[in-house]
Amino acid sequence: MCGIVGYIGKRQASAILVEGLSKLEYRGYDSAGVAIIDNNSIDVMKCKGRLANLEEKLKETPIEGTIGIGHTRWATHGEPSDLNSHPHSNEDGTISVVHNGIIENYIHLREWLTSKGYKFKSETDTEVIPHLVDYFYNGDLLDAVMKAVGKMEGSYAIGVICNSDPDKIVAVRKDSPMIVGLGENEFFIASDIPAVLNHTRDVYLLNDKEFVVLTKDGVKLFTEEKEEIRRDIYHVTWNADAAEKGGYEDFMLKEIHEQPKAIKDTMTSRIMPGKPITLDEIKITREELENINKIYVVACGTAYHAGIVGKYVIEKLSRIPVEVDIASEFRYRNPIIDKNTLMIVISQSGETADTLAALREAKNHGARVIAVTNVVGSSVSREADDVLYTWAGPEIAVASTKAYETQLVAMYIIALFFAENKKTLSKEELEDLKKEMLLLPEKAEECLKNKEIIQRYAAQTYTHKDMFFLGRGLDYAVAMEGSLKLKEISYIHSEAYAGGELKHGPIALIEKGTVVVALATQDELFEKMVSNVKEVTTRGAHVLGVTFEGNESIEKTVDSAIYLPRINPFFSPLLSVIPLQLFSYYVAVQKGCDVDKPRNLAKSVTVE
Ligand code: M6R
Repeated sequence: MCGIVGYIGKRQASAILVEGLSKLEYRGYDSAGVAIIDNNSIDVMKCKGRLANLEEKLKETPIEGTIGIGHTRWATHGEPSDLNSHPHSNEDGTISVVHNGIIENYIHLREWLTSKGYKFKSETDTEVIPHLVDYFYNGDLLDAVMKAVGKMEGSYAIGVICNSDPDKIVAVRKDSPMIVGLGENEFFIASDIPAVLNHTRDVYLLNDKEFVVLTKDGVKLFTEEKEEIRRDIYHVTWNADAAEKGGYEDFMLKEIHEQPKAIKDTMTSRIMPGKPITLDEIKITREELENINKIYVVACGTAYHAGIVGKYVIEKLSRIPVEVDIASEFRYRNPIIDKNTLMIVISQSGETADTLAALREAKNHGARVIAVTNVVGSSVSREADDVLYTWAGPEIAVASTKAYETQLVAMYIIALFFAENKKTLSKEELEDLKKEMLLLPEKAEECLKNKEIIQRYAAQTYTHKDMFFLGRGLDYAVAMEGSLKLKEISYIHSEAYAGGELKHGPIALIEKGTVVVALATQDELFEKMVSNVKEVTTRGAHVLGVTFEGNESIEKTVDSAIYLPRINPFFSPLLSVIPLQLFSYYVAVQKGCDVDKPRNLAKSVTVE
């Protein structure tokens, strides 16, 4: 999705804006631009393609000035092009705007503005904003932005500059992320914290419909009624290095290797041997929990796959029925919700539009909502009743790995918490599960040692056009995630099937040489899975098996095998996904793909 950076201070804005935008590249984009005020006039530079193109242009024709806004655009309305890139300006170039989100009533606004004599150059929804601000401008930029926003429907994070009000930036957000960075005599706006971390660790987290005015003297926040707001400073404690590659080839590989730590961090102070599970951020009472008769787990993409594992583990431990829904489907299917329904939304970014809409739908019907998210202060964290943060640290690669791993940890913690409070497990059973779970970081570390064999298998198979992932029970949930990862970063078509489902149709696709990755970690399903593998090998499939140490008998059936260190198979998803992530990664590298920024994908999908 789009990225926004704004700067006001004493230094040259151009380099600061470009550097800030580079920290937002993970959000996905297809063009970039800046607008800077110099000597009471606004200079705009923008172009299609990578940020490097913009940097090149700025080298050839530098823009001076200490106040500016910058943008990386991920096309929604209008193709990626120089003209459709942001910033967008009014007709005489005296007002410039960057925008993230979608103005849903832009056609109506465009017609209305056209009837007033305004002319449009681009195909974007955004271009209505500078014209609206122009229409309402009467010497006070904040006032004009407030009136313009009053006309707009949809989602937006906006930064505005105006050469008649040359010493300020005005910004506002609704349903799109924006933070304010507070430096020493310099101030920033940005879509995400990494964009300002080289300059400050103190930020304000903006809420929906809050306006900000940044001047060289400071920052003021206002309600839509223009009342000033007092906001506590949020001090960022994580390191700027956490958002850099740290010696790895790609962010994705780095993030795969960070998983043992991410698992540990997410369990820390929540799971302790001999102590009750501590979830300070979840306020649901034992009585409320007793009354819950149904749980919806709602999410998109990888987070949805974590939800499927969540269903297995919550139902198994707490005996509460769980339905898992894709967020974009949930909101339109008139789901049965009442005050005894609990919703758990899972979202790495906490800004996914469909997930947020599902959360709102559930709340409107009186359900209680727990958010599992990785981003402090994100929209889902603020709108949910309870929050369980996953402490994965910033995830930069578009393909989610460590965030998924910590989402799984969160689902297991929630399942244990419910079981403890509902007393569906004995103290001994609970204690055994907690002890086993605390072993996960070191077991995950061991899984990373399998790299060479996976790399070899990837080198043998990367030219294939189709691959299949098979599993039963928890393994099936992980197979879905393995298949998504492969598609996302290597562009190889792949499908995940429940082992027993194969013979009901998909087996027709198996032919000599077809690549199949088969997971067999569930003891009670092991023999059945071996039979499913035989069904494909007899038809010529080339199979990579993933199972626990001690199951070496699998070698009689598969072509290669990866062994996971032994743990209670109930926790196997946290380990078995690691070889699948590495497999996708090495296949994509062999194919020469841009692993961290796969084509057509955005890290944070803030439009429907
Ligand atoms: O930020 P979210 O967890 O809400 O994002 C949900 C999906 O868009 C995300 O998991 C997507 O599927 C990733 N590209 C997966 O690698």
